[in-house]
Amino acid sequence: MPAENRIMRVLKRDDLKAVIAIDALVSKQQRDEYYERKFDSILNTTHNINSSIVCEIAGRVVGFIMGDVYFGEFGIPETNATIDTIGVHPEFANRGVASEMLDQFMMNMKAARVGKVYTLVNWDDFALEKFFAHHKFAPSKRVNLECTVI
Ligand SMILES: CC(C)(COP(=O)(O)OP(=O)(O)OC[C@H]1O[C@@H](n2cnc3c(N)ncnc32)[C@H](O)[C@@H]1OP(=O)(O)O)[C@@H](O)C(=O)NCCC(=O)NCCS
Repeated sequence: MPAENRIMRVLKRDDLKAVIAIDALVSKQQRDEYYERKFDSILNTTHNINSSIVCEIAGRVVGFIMGDVYFGEFGIPETNATIDTIGVHPEFANRGVASEMLDQFMMNMKAARVGKVYTLVNWDDFALEKFFAHHKFAPSKRVNLECTVI
């Protein structure tokens, strides 16, 4: 494969359209409002750390990881982080894009002294589960509780 101009960098406001388009392709959902709100929160100047990463190949955004860092919230004393969404454009799949973004994300988390990174995967999303398992993610000791609102 020829050398490509691949860069990992932090997410910025101009990435909104690309992120929405990639998410629509991989999740089959059109979640414009969700991402608009998420970008507003992440890029808000009072927000602590912008931990979200995008991958650019030849100037085009081809993948993203959106995360958040929490300092002692939810009664958990250690600093921890979440990966809320991840997506790679299908044309650029299986080329290590997600792996490289995750490596960068984890490096940044280490620098921010984050103890643990959490993510949620639907129980039947085997591809995503396999991806995280290959990157040393394992079932958590925290239990995810839910209650249907009636
Ligand atoms: C899961 C997902 C993030 C993986 O992205 P990706 O960029 O294809 O991932 P990678 O290329 O890093 O790894 C995928 C496979 O490619 C292989 N691979 C990695 N680097 C490679 C390289 N340089 N050359 C060839 N193959 C490679 C790996 O073996 C890996 O297999 P594994 O998962 O069994 O370890 C992507 O498929 C996706 O966006 N899925 C949808 C996620 C989703 O539903 N998001 C919305 C809700 S959060």
